[in-house]
Amino acid sequence: MASLEALLAAFPSPELDELVATRRDLHRHPELAFEERRTAGIAAGRLRSYGLAPREGVGKTGVTADAGGAGPRLMLRADMDALPLTEATGAPYASEAPGRMHACGHDGHVAIALAVARRLTATPPPAPLRFLFQPAEEGRGGAQACAADGVLDGVGAAFGLHLWTPLPAGRIGINRGPLMAAVDQFEITVEGRGGHGAAPHETEDSILASARIVDALQSVVAREISPLEPAVVTVGSIHGGTAFNIIPGSVRMEGTARSFTEAVGRALPEKIRRIVEGTASACGVRATLRYERVNGATINDAKMADLVIETASRVLGEENVETDTRTLGGEDMSVFLERVPGCFFFVGCGLEGPPRAHHSPRFDVDERALAVGTLVMEAVVREAARRLA
Ligand code: NI
Repeated sequence: MASLEALLAAFPSPELDELVATRRDLHRHPELAFEERRTAGIAAGRLRSYGLAPREGVGKTGVTADAGGAGPRLMLRADMDALPLTEATGAPYASEAPGRMHACGHDGHVAIALAVARRLTATPPPAPLRFLFQPAEEGRGGAQACAADGVLDGVGAAFGLHLWTPLPAGRIGINRGPLMAAVDQFEITVEGRGGHGAAPHETEDSILASARIVDALQSVVAREISPLEPAVVTVGSIHGGTAFNIIPGSVRMEGTARSFTEAVGRALPEKIRRIVEGTASACGVRATLRYERVNGATINDAKMADLVIETASRVLGEENVETDTRTLGGEDMSVFLERVPGCFFFVGCGLEGPPRAHHSPRFDVDERALAVGTLVMEAVVREAARRLA
């Protein structure tokens, strides 16, 4: 059991300085999905300096490096991409690229993974290891691209972490089972005969139909999914019309649906389709639905989650490990955890003061969390090596 202050007092200050410097350097130079060339170059260079032989261009712009002998590898994954957003923190290390920002903390993930890689390879590694610096986590298929490129070949278990502002530094959030939701994406096109705004009876009103569709979709979660099962249906964009006195011929909407279980995930598209098409029909217009299941839920293996809970409790104190954390946010770590056992967990990094929501232009992290993430992940890998040997 240790307080954050005691933990930090024992953490080598040059190492914390380097963690912060690495994170801030990446933060100043954010790169979007599948463009992470500078970031990947920094990761590969550091891995080389540890005596490893990184493979670059994995899943387009990713990097892997193996350490240790033969046998099932423990994979440690960090994502690298930034978001298309202009930073508004005013921090001295703010993004130097307008329209690009590390607004989810992936800069910190890279810094932590590099520190953990150095710790685990400074002496003979505790087990065969693979470090993965993954591109394009933000809904762009980076994990799929890496999996297709063979990053899971020979891997026995996979671990990853995410900096998490809802929790303060010094705390870990985890769940035995689903941690993050399955992510679906849909697009609805509503089409009707447009016309003069003063003669609605001579038109088919795609605006009114769209409003009714958005409203009716709320009944999917409220009336058709068990109240004991979390789910979300959100319409996030709606575009139609050109003038105040014209009923347009079409409206286009986009949205997302989220779920934790495969049963709910399988049921959602048909329920949404029935409401979209039925409501359109009732309004005398036509609607088409394009529906894509982007990522599965990020589900922790129970044994691996126990391993992380016990290890993090040893490092941080039991009272600092929240074991019932879940969010309907999504993560493509799910691609790996669907194929090999493993665990993904949140590392608290919330700052005092106004909220620093993930994916917002004011996102920022408590950099002390970089040391916490390093200590916990190193301990998790060593414990996994011990238990799986
Ligand atoms: Ni993220």
